[in-house]
Amino acid sequence: MTSILEARGIQKSYGAVRVLENVDFDLQDGEAHVVIGPNGAGKTTLFRCLSGETRVNGGQIKFAGQDVTALTGAQRVKLGIGRTFQVARIFPDMSAFENLIIAIETRERNDKGLRFTFGYIAPRQQVVDEAERLVVELGLEGAVDDVAGTLSHGDKKRLELAMSLALSPRLLMLDEPTAGMSPSDRAEAVRLIAQVRKGYGLSLLLTEHDMEVVFGLATRLTVLHHGEIIASGEPAEVRSDSRVREVYLGQH
Ligand SMILES: Nc1ncnc2c1ncn2[C@@H]1O[C@H](COP(=O)(O)OP(=O)(O)OP(=O)(O)O)[C@@H](O)[C@H]1O
Ligand SMILES: [Mg+2]
Repeated sequence: MTSILEARGIQKSYGAVRVLENVDFDLQDGEAHVVIGPNGAGKTTLFRCLSGETRVNGGQIKFAGQDVTALTGAQRVKLGIGRTFQVARIFPDMSAFENLIIAIETRERNDKGLRFTFGYIAPRQQVVDEAERLVVELGLEGAVDDVAGTLSHGDKKRLELAMSLALSPRLLMLDEPTAGMSPSDRAEAVRLIAQVRKGYGLSLLLTEHDMEVVFGLATRLTVLHHGEIIASGEPAEVRSDSRVREVYLGQH
């Protein structure tokens, strides 16, 4: 397998607080890599560094062999790094369908090297067709015409996932995709994530606290503790690691 994402010696501080200490992280093409660790371990911070939402204080990040350390988040999206957030980011006053149209048109502008322009122009049929495909694929049929801000938590997450897919990522990063979901919504989310991973041939990087979700999806597991990686490998191997049990899994 080849590495699609390689991070070396990542350091990140907020003021005097060192959040990530010399983190080396690899993600192989096609894997579903789950990062776990206690609250405040630095998982979201690592995501933000990898996606370009925040700059690192030291280290290097390569995506598909290209050094992306100095690139912005938007530039990394164009290269194929997509992400969703711990709290869903959508346009709350527009309908779910309009949100999807915007995501698809953003990708088309990116492909053509155009900049985002405001102002609503009726979408082309091809864009509408693609949005409709995503609606069916992600089970959003009952919610497409609702104002996005009023959707249930589960549907907001689904919409956000659909919008990320519309940007045609190669790697999709999901920060706690099942946070705040009921057990049945959670099982459904796992099914959906596994389905889009297969259907789109995506590499996945996710953080998650729910162990059923973690072990239901992970092909590789990394444990972050106080900003340092304390274990990484096959899920079964990491699960039986004594240090991991002590600092994290023992609590679950
Ligand atoms: N923007 C920020 N400014 C200052 N400190 C921050 C900022 N973001 C995160 N931190 C601090 O960095 C540490 C790691 O936070 P982070 O959100 O990365 O943890 P996490 O592993 O994602 O936790 P959780 O499981 O609760 O989501 C915490 O101590 C947090 O308070
Ligand atoms: Mg977090």
